[in-house]
Amino acid sequence: MSVSNSFRLGSPEVFPPAERHVYLDAASVGLSHKGGAAAISAWQNALAEEGTIAFDEQAEVECLDNLNEATARLFNATTDDIAVASSETVLMQSLAWAVMPEKGTKIVATDITHPSTVYPWMRLCDHTGAEVHWVRADASQTIDPDELEASIDDNTSVVCLSQCEYGTGQQYDLKRYADKAHAHGAILVVDATQSAGQVPIDASCGVDAVATSTYKWLCGPFGTGMMYVSPAMQKLNPGILGWRSHKDMWDFQADRLELVDNAKRYEFGTMAYGTAFGATESVRHLLDTGMDKIVEHNRRVSKHLIAGLNDLGAEVLGPKTDADRSATVAARFPGKNSRDFAKTLKEANVIASLRRDFIRFSPHYYNNIDDIDQGLAAIKAAL
Ligand SMILES: Cc1ncc(COP(=O)(O)O)c(C=O)c1O
Repeated sequence: MSVSNSFRLGSPEVFPPAERHVYLDAASVGLSHKGGAAAISAWQNALAEEGTIAFDEQAEVECLDNLNEATARLFNATTDDIAVASSETVLMQSLAWAVMPEKGTKIVATDITHPSTVYPWMRLCDHTGAEVHWVRADASQTIDPDELEASIDDNTSVVCLSQCEYGTGQQYDLKRYADKAHAHGAILVVDATQSAGQVPIDASCGVDAVATSTYKWLCGPFGTGMMYVSPAMQKLNPGILGWRSHKDMWDFQADRLELVDNAKRYEFGTMAYGTAFGATESVRHLLDTGMDKIVEHNRRVSKHLIAGLNDLGAEVLGPKTDADRSATVAARFPGKNSRDFAKTLKEANVIASLRRDFIRFSPHYYNNIDDIDQGLAAIKAAL
């Protein structure tokens, strides 16, 4: 079936700014789902008007349930496997202290991973004497998947990966690394902040934990994160504890703590709860649209971008094979300073990000081929 160049899978009614800008920046901050933004304001306004009349104790117990349920569907998991808190980092940090990798063991990570993917584990290394083993990218910012796999051995305690690299969008096969990690008695923990909402995530492939924030490809707000944890991780003692960690959060008896029996033990305290209502709307919209359709749409749009960038003589970074890529596209422009170039593009209303010494374009389901053509025309003019 042929699709028109003006077709946006995420419709302009839901994402109005997509019609006003060439917005290619989901890997930084995705456009927010309009209904999600409205849900957050509605909750906040009700709280401002009526305090605990609008948001009573039972509501505070149940307020994360809808996001929990939507996330379970997104990750092909059950609701017992999902915790909600304020960000990926906070959830990953709590998990790292729960796992507590021992002295003499190594944590495998790539040197192009996002700091927030690995800093929680580096903090643990400072404490226990475990060490990070860095798998290095080549000159085109690509990790060799075979080298990554070969670096997992009997000394490995944790393999810590961003499912899609924040810079180049390189995508990893989670099952492959989960199997390899388990064969050596290690675990695979995944940062999905750059992948949830743009590629499917199947927690049943054997991953031990998957954590994400919501403001990028999930088109939700700042202030919410979700984490899948496997049944084994649900037995550990979280690094961060608070009143919500107790089975009955309204027990308020400080000298006894009975942790929740499932992933919710990683939920520890209050957060900007309204953001969870916003994130629920945007995750449901992605699910209703269909992750397969989103992948197909985004691949078509990003392939068009890569072809156009190649035609213009840009150096496109990251893997050459489709299977190892996601919609994120990083490029350098020979003879151009990327910082200045990013500014010029912004002045032409083409919104992308400078990352290190390259420019990162990250189209999502609300973009269309016409956006890419406009972006390429602006690049051509700037060259
Ligand atoms: C892979 C990845 N992880 C984590 C983060 C940020 O984490 P948080 O939302 O917890 O600050 C980013 C932000 O760019 C990211 O790209």
